[in-house]
Amino acid sequence: MNRIPFIAGNWKMYKTGPEAVDAAKKLASLCSDVKDVEIMIAPTFLSLPLVSACVQGTRVKTGAQNLYFEKEGAFTGEVSADMIKAAGAEYVLIGHSERRQYFGETDETVCKKLRAAFHAGLKPVLCIGETEVERDQEKTFQTLDKQVSDGLKGFVSDELKDLTLAYEPVWAIGTGKTASTTQVDEVHQYLRSLLSRRFSADFSGRTRILYGGSVKPENVKELMNIRDVDGALVGGASLDPDKFIKIIKFYLQEI
Ligand code: PGA
Repeated sequence: MNRIPFIAGNWKMYKTGPEAVDAAKKLASLCSDVKDVEIMIAPTFLSLPLVSACVQGTRVKTGAQNLYFEKEGAFTGEVSADMIKAAGAEYVLIGHSERRQYFGETDETVCKKLRAAFHAGLKPVLCIGETEVERDQEKTFQTLDKQVSDGLKGFVSDELKDLTLAYEPVWAIGTGKTASTTQVDEVHQYLRSLLSRRFSADFSGRTRILYGGSVKPENVKELMNIRDVDGALVGGASLDPDKFIKIIKFYLQEI
């Protein structure tokens, strides 16, 4: 099945509005000759409308890093899916491990956020991954199984056609430690079969599964060569457009 490669940059809590706009403009110009790769950057909420406006009509799409699942109301400090959509974003990251670790995100809130995202017409990127302790205790598959099953509870495959899954082992995020190709291959195959069992082979074959965790120009090609890896979710190495473009043009890299 034809799954278009998807390279997404998570800018986390980096860059002011003007810095984000500069980087986005530079990236958009570097991306003009990229073929057959979908490109997305997720700046902070404050920069999202600015960045979305400045990349409009280019190869670069935008996404938010989080949302709140209520439509509107007295929820100080929160941002709704409709507001994100109105800011010009197409995507939203949901359940990133930093949200789970520092901000109390659970599989239940993830599930509600996914529903809100789809309802607003956003394309969610559901982030999942095991901690180092869970891997050491051989609970990787069990953890991923729960995150997928509970995160997608109550959904039918028709509602999930714009879903992307991102496997990000927590121990590989921002640490410079990339999972080995064997580990990534094993997990991505597992996730592909999990989606097939939970939904259908057709749905599983259509759904993109990204890898995230210390992806850089030096390792992207090897990761992208793994059969069930359809793209990358990149943190640190997405902040510098000159570096990020090398990841986006993974097909030109040496192994
Ligand atoms: P990293 O972050 O590339 O800096 O490891 C990945 C992520 O958090 O999505």
